[in-house]
Amino acid sequence: MYALSKNDEIREIQREILRLKREKSAYIIAHNYQLPEIQDVADYVGDSLGMAMEAKKTDHPMVVVCGVHFMAETAAILLPDRKVITPERYAGCSLAESITPEQLKEWKKQHPEAVVVAYVNTTAEVKALADYTVTSSNAVDIVRSIPEDKEILFLPDMFLGMYVREVTGRRNMYIWPGECHVHARVSPQDIARAALENPGATMLVHPECGCSTNCLYLKARGELSVPMEVLSTGGMVRYVKNNPDRDYVIATEVGILYRLQKEIGSDASRLKPLREDMVCEYMKTITAEKLLKALEKEQYEVKVPPEIAERARVPIERMLALSSPKR
Ligand code: 13P
Ligand code: SF4
Repeated sequence: MYALSKNDEIREIQREILRLKREKSAYIIAHNYQLPEIQDVADYVGDSLGMAMEAKKTDHPMVVVCGVHFMAETAAILLPDRKVITPERYAGCSLAESITPEQLKEWKKQHPEAVVVAYVNTTAEVKALADYTVTSSNAVDIVRSIPEDKEILFLPDMFLGMYVREVTGRRNMYIWPGECHVHARVSPQDIARAALENPGATMLVHPECGCSTNCLYLKARGELSVPMEVLSTGGMVRYVKNNPDRDYVIATEVGILYRLQKEIGSDASRLKPLREDMVCEYMKTITAEKLLKALEKEQYEVKVPPEIAERARVPIERMLALSSPKR
């Protein structure tokens, strides 16, 4: 008897996942930050908007969401008659934790006429108090669709909010001071260092990054010496797919590098993370082993109380109606 290597062990678990997925007619939706062992067995890998759109489209009786809790909750809200499973109950999100329903109720009292625009990185209870949800790939378009004279309360990510305000020029938009612990620490100095170390490389920057507004400002003034785009994770995948011959520095969670490498093929050295320490530990709690257990035991089912789900579905559906599928 010989011992299996870690890779052999993972491959064996993946075979079992694929077998059970077929047997139970389950559909696996994963986020771009998930571990390679998850991305390789998922039916769909994408950004938060793509995940919600895919959940709504599927007719499978069981949907397994490999991502953080709010992503599974969004699928459960959209699919009240289906079994929605998360392989890890405690896959949280620091950004979603940065505003509570009580805080939002208080804020709304101060601006009773305002339209509430909530990033999907929020709990179901917070979504239930919102008028629209947005993701990083449609926030600009959705804010533009709201009549100019309406005040907007944008929550909870301040960097995405400031980025949207900068792009739309919207001045009557109030921004909640929340942040994601992975992206907030990215500074303009990180971009400057990476530009010096990687001459000619294109910077792809997630709008949650602490530097996104500064970068945009410098770009608009023609003072940024490197090509730079601010994009959602799905936007980054599309950009690299359409421009496979460039060198890139990627300013978001490092899990996306595996996804991007798949798009660009052999030469992985053309893709560099801005910072190796951009790791979302919540995303990484989901492993092939836990996914297998989730399929075997059909655990952990994500249930949103019907009265909350009904209200939270309204801003999500409004967002989906205003978003077109992106290729
Ligand atoms: P995307 O919608 O761009 O994938 O972002 C989700 C997220 O949690 C980023 O940290
Ligand atoms: Fe939440 Fe940040 Fe992790 Fe994205 S990277 S899931 S915003 S904690």
